[in-house]
Amino acid sequence: MDQLPVWLTLRGRGVLVVGGGHAATAKARLALAAGAQVTVVAPALAAEAAELAELGQVRHFEREFHADDLTGQTLVYGATGDDMHDAAVADAAHARGVLVNIVDKPALSDFSMPAIVDRSPVVVGISTGGAVPALAVAVRQRIEALLPARLGKLAAFAESFRSTIKAKVTDMPARLRFWQRIVSGPIAEQVLSGREDAARAELMRALNSDASGASVGTVFLVGAGPGDPELLTLRAVRLLQSADVIVYDRLVGTGVLEYARRDAERVFVGKEPTRHPVSQQQINDILVDRARGGLNVVRLKGGDPFIFGRGGEEADHLRAAGVPVQVVPGITAALACAAEAGVPLTHRDVAMEVTFVTGHGRDGNDNEPDWRALARARHTLVVYMGVGHAAEIAGKLTEHGLAASTPVAVIQNGTQPNQRVVGSTLGALGELVVAQKIENPALLIVGEVARAAQTEAVVAQNILRAVAG
Ligand SMILES: C[S@@+](CC[C@H](N)C(=O)[O-])C[C@H]1O[C@@H](n2cnc3c(N)ncnc32)[C@H](O)[C@@H]1O
Repeated sequence: MDQLPVWLTLRGRGVLVVGGGHAATAKARLALAAGAQVTVVAPALAAEAAELAELGQVRHFEREFHADDLTGQTLVYGATGDDMHDAAVADAAHARGVLVNIVDKPALSDFSMPAIVDRSPVVVGISTGGAVPALAVAVRQRIEALLPARLGKLAAFAESFRSTIKAKVTDMPARLRFWQRIVSGPIAEQVLSGREDAARAELMRALNSDASGASVGTVFLVGAGPGDPELLTLRAVRLLQSADVIVYDRLVGTGVLEYARRDAERVFVGKEPTRHPVSQQQINDILVDRARGGLNVVRLKGGDPFIFGRGGEEADHLRAAGVPVQVVPGITAALACAAEAGVPLTHRDVAMEVTFVTGHGRDGNDNEPDWRALARARHTLVVYMGVGHAAEIAGKLTEHGLAASTPVAVIQNGTQPNQRVVGSTLGALGELVVAQKIENPALLIVGEVARAAQTEAVVAQNILRAVAG
């Protein structure tokens, strides 16, 4: 390690910025964010620096730098953009023992500025020692994506309970374990998703139940999206990385499970449309059983848990059993498949509304939909679990007024490497599904918008055109 990372307390201390351009202003802003008293020395200021001076946030001396400007300063930044002036600032700072950073000149600097991820009071600094600033920025982007936006709130929340926890959990190892539970378990998740009141209540409950030795885990109903792991939410990834148990469905893409904690228990409860090897009751029992054992469970469901996923039933069951539940949305198949097929679900000219329906009802006991309403004009209909009844659905829609020429897009295995997009019309849909051997999981998009579908035929034509021309 060539440089020592330190976090300086600058509140109320002097920081000198020499230069009035963009780089100088950026340094002035950072110093201000840390509460420093900032002085800028420059014969002229760019608009953004002038604004800081006008607002009285920085003191400005409209002239060249003098060595005496360093008196009383903790740090100095040189950002004049001129080699000779920058070198003069560095020399004077070295002579007086004031720490100096010359922008883009590590050889003249005592310290380098890290790329910063600010979730105050949690602050991450990334340094390449001034060697490759672009690499530090690239690393920062990754860390930005990893760290929850409300991490700072979590730190403040935890801080506010420090003395209570210290008084209540007196045994040191037990206190450490308790803290680990707070900062990476369901209570942290409540804070990170903006529900601080619920988190506070949960923490008080955990403090009291800890005294009685009992604790119940939380079940997170998490949407795994349509299959492509890139379409997971950040919260889903975070929960997968921390859950003790993962209970997952058939439609959860294999890549998605790569994000799971290596030592987490994995329970497959996949259901086929016609075969349910693990019954819903058994799934409910597994969830309650693990949570009552104090484990945190991710119940991973394809797409969104609350769209044709029986998430509502599972949530009801868990709540009735006294198990805390949190729901994390996912990208539902309709949105993902439409995007993949290039079909806008609504369009100002042809579709003012969109309806998601299931092609089969609860456990095969079909509830007849309102076909007249589904066959409305200027309307897009997305049918989940409909391929098995495609001809019947098309027949009902035409019977209730939709033209047989209405375009339909059929998307099988949307977002997966074996994705297929096939185009049809309502009149030909039944035959197409059989002829093309379309199988589940597949989605039907019915309506004028489906005319835009980038089907296999359209893509092939485009390729031929590109080759020819
Ligand atoms: C039980 S539903 C679950 C829906 C899920 N909760 C969601 O929000 O996407 C299963 C049906 O969703 C559709 N589906 C799910 N994933 C799909 C995918 N990757 N491509 C096409 N259709 C999909 C199919 O119609 C499948 O039969």
